[in-house]
Amino acid sequence: LRKQGIQEIKASADLDHLNDIRVKMLGKKGPLTTVLRGMKDLSKEERPKVGKFANEIRDELTQALEAKKAELATARLNAKLAAETLDVTLPGTPTVQGQPHVIQQIIDQLVDLFVGMGYQVAVGDEVEQDEYNFERLNLPKDHPARDMQDTFYVTPSVLMRTQTSPMQARMMEKHDFANGPLKMISPGKVYRRDTDDATHSHQFHQVEGLVVGEHVTMADLKGTLEVVAKTLFGDELAVRLRPSYFPFTEPSVEADITCFNCMGQGCAICKHTGWLEVLGAGMVHPNVLKMSGVDPEVYGGFAFGLGPDRFAMIKYGVEDIRDFYQNDVRFLNQFNQKG
Ligand code: PHE
Repeated sequence: LRKQGIQEIKASADLDHLNDIRVKMLGKKGPLTTVLRGMKDLSKEERPKVGKFANEIRDELTQALEAKKAELATARLNAKLAAETLDVTLPGTPTVQGQPHVIQQIIDQLVDLFVGMGYQVAVGDEVEQDEYNFERLNLPKDHPARDMQDTFYVTPSVLMRTQTSPMQARMMEKHDFANGPLKMISPGKVYRRDTDDATHSHQFHQVEGLVVGEHVTMADLKGTLEVVAKTLFGDELAVRLRPSYFPFTEPSVEADITCFNCMGQGCAICKHTGWLEVLGAGMVHPNVLKMSGVDPEVYGGFAFGLGPDRFAMIKYGVEDIRDFYQNDVRFLNQFNQKG
């Protein structure tokens, strides 16, 4: 039994077969069990001898089984590993990774800059009330300046905001000036009833800026705009303010930066002026402060509104604003920050 068992175990080629052998030899119906069960019929003298012998055989077979089992398991693992070998030096399948849109990149840069200067970011709604988009910004119903911003109306009193300036009024009416000045920017989409062409889009972007507190001056405005210009376009650029008109600021200005193409010498891009117009700004009109519950005798500030679309066009020499919205990946991938 012992010899035959050991032989069978050694010859066994797979784990299932080995298990069958174990059951056959050592199982409940196996010869060893039968011998051990029959012990009660043996004489006192015979019993220990037979018992010892049977146990020896059992131990030996068990050992042989365990050894073979380990051997087969290792062999099975090795075979599996060999079959699954994989050449890690082969080139992988490239994955296409998305990236922020170029306009979003400009907005992100501005948000980073202003958050670093302690501004809060307030994102408003694109559907806005006439009240905030116009009235509270010193543009009553019959005001001729409403024509400057041809408007999509949803109802007679609700519209697609034409500018991010309504966030000035919304933030001012909420702010507790006893806790210090209000410093905020508001990036987002705005809408105007324009016919789309190379320089007009019925939807575009603005980033509004507002600082209101005690002793805020026009010099603060200019300094702030200089930081913006230098951060986005380069350190050597200067900012120039020209008088302008907006109903919600007084005085109002248009800000230009040095044309970085010709560094102020005059070229086709800046129409030979040496300057590029980049945004509108001014000192918040006392009427606007009053309508938001802020005392113009105590508090004042500046506001500006800039267009990331225009910034991107200037920065990258894009001649058609529609390119930003047609989602041609060949165009958009040019602004891949990861190179
Ligand atoms: N809201 C103005 C526009 O859309 C820009 C602006 C904002 C001007 C804030 C002055 C102050 O043209």
